[in-house]
Amino acid sequence: MPYLDRARASGVDFTTMAETDDRRALYELNKTCSADIPERGEFFTYDEYVAQRIEAPGVTKDGVVLALRDGQWIGMTMTSLHRDKDTAFTEMTGVLAAERGRGLSLALKLLAIRFVRASGYRWLRTFHHPRNTSAIAMTCRSGFVDD
Ligand SMILES: CC(C)(COP(=O)(O)OP(=O)(O)OC[C@H]1O[C@@H](n2cnc3c(N)ncnc32)[C@H](O)[C@@H]1OP(=O)(O)O)[C@@H](O)C(=O)NCCC(=O)NCCS
Repeated sequence: MPYLDRARASGVDFTTMAETDDRRALYELNKTCSADIPERGEFFTYDEYVAQRIEAPGVTKDGVVLALRDGQWIGMTMTSLHRDKDTAFTEMTGVLAAERGRGLSLALKLLAIRFVRASGYRWLRTFHHPRNTSAIAMTCRSGFVDD
């Protein structure tokens, strides 16, 4: 996996919320990255985030993959699993601005896809704001197709 290898060679580590369950850090990272989503509007409060994202149906600690550099959280992807629809869903992928453009989101997506497959799901879906061109390009680059 060249993207994973490249990220690791540059000093990035990967983990999940199952190993590093710091909800406040996840909230802050998600909030910072989400500020760059067009028309995202006001972000959740911490309590709203816990209730509506971390404890949302289908979200498990294994499904939240994190990228770290020097112990600091620099990227994330969150996947929810929905057995009734045989579908997994990418809830959010984000990388801090200073770390973008180095293939980090693709490394995170690869780990998310590995998690989805290991969980026995056939489909992984997502959607983006139509003006979020970098996210759309990232999603296409990681192998998603428009349905
Ligand atoms: C979208 C985002 C996660 C991309 O993270 P990243 O680590 O910089 O992306 P990568 O370096 O892995 O790039 C992956 C691919 O996406 C595309 N891409 C990424 N940024 C791009 C940009 N600014 N313009 C055009 N294409 C871009 C490229 O095709 C790239 O692959 P390539 O370099 O092999 O051509 C990051 O910009 C981000 O956090 N944005 C704010 C949050 C957000 O919008 N998240 C998505 C909503 S869920």
